[in-house]
Amino acid sequence: MIVSASTSQSLAGTLASLLNEPISVASVDRFSDGELLAAVPGISTDRVIVVCSTVTCEAHIELLQLHDALREAGVSEITTVIPYLGYARQDAPTPPDASIDPDTPGYPVSIRAIARALSIGTDRILTINPHEADVIDHFTVPAAAVDASGRLADALPSALSDPVFVSPDAGAVDLATSVRDAYGSGDIDHFEKARLSDTQVELSPSQATVAERDVVLVDDIISTGSTMAEAISILRERDANRVFVTCVHPLFSGSALDRLFDAGADDVFGTDTIEASVSEVSVAQTIEDSLDI
Ligand code: R5P
Repeated sequence: MIVSASTSQSLAGTLASLLNEPISVASVDRFSDGELLAAVPGISTDRVIVVCSTVTCEAHIELLQLHDALREAGVSEITTVIPYLGYARQDAPTPPDASIDPDTPGYPVSIRAIARALSIGTDRILTINPHEADVIDHFTVPAAAVDASGRLADALPSALSDPVFVSPDAGAVDLATSVRDAYGSGDIDHFEKARLSDTQVELSPSQATVAERDVVLVDDIISTGSTMAEAISILRERDANRVFVTCVHPLFSGSALDRLFDAGADDVFGTDTIEASVSEVSVAQTIEDSLDI
């Protein structure tokens, strides 16, 4: 049985079809003091796959409650699929401003706290492209991180013109390479990035010649859109042909999507790890292929 949290209904539905499993969508109520109540009323089964992207603070609470509800109902084996693992970018003490020394005592490793809490209610965890693969070491149950970035090539036009696949920083070169390999041809390049604050980045141009070429930008997450908007502007100044903006996790806070089109993107798409208007590619097959952890 698949149990879908409120954040992952589309992906959970696709996964249930692939696995030919029944699906139950969690009910989520709210008490007058604001507290949430996530439940799976009447569930009766032995093995469950819970699908929950922890895309908001409330989604973390929802997942903790679902774990407890399932154990309460006598479920003996719980696999938790977290397509988007929130807080994974806080994999080290992360003061809110780059001017604060990260060694200042008193800042948490937030993903460690989250991972420990989530481990209590499940037998295993599967997540997709966490910001750094080794964050899964913080879980205290068997956990795996799977790369689904190659799926992004499914949404690209079939005939790109002399393409170059570019990541906005060195850390995402592997993702750009996966997309290029899945597409079948093209060069790889990357920018150098310095983050000045939550909403401001500085990018140093890449070496590749992009004039008259189609460019596919690839990153793990688009959040405020600052990184990609800066990358698009540089590519436009350098006379790139079409610019396709892709990411695994389309988080898109505020007006991030408009910002990308305003900067000159020709198309923007991501996967269904997060339900967004641009979630054109499903990671359900990748999850199905990886469930034997
Ligand atoms: C950070 O290094 C990530 O890979 C992304 O580049 C980052 O999360 C994007 O954030 P934003 O859209 O706010 O620039």
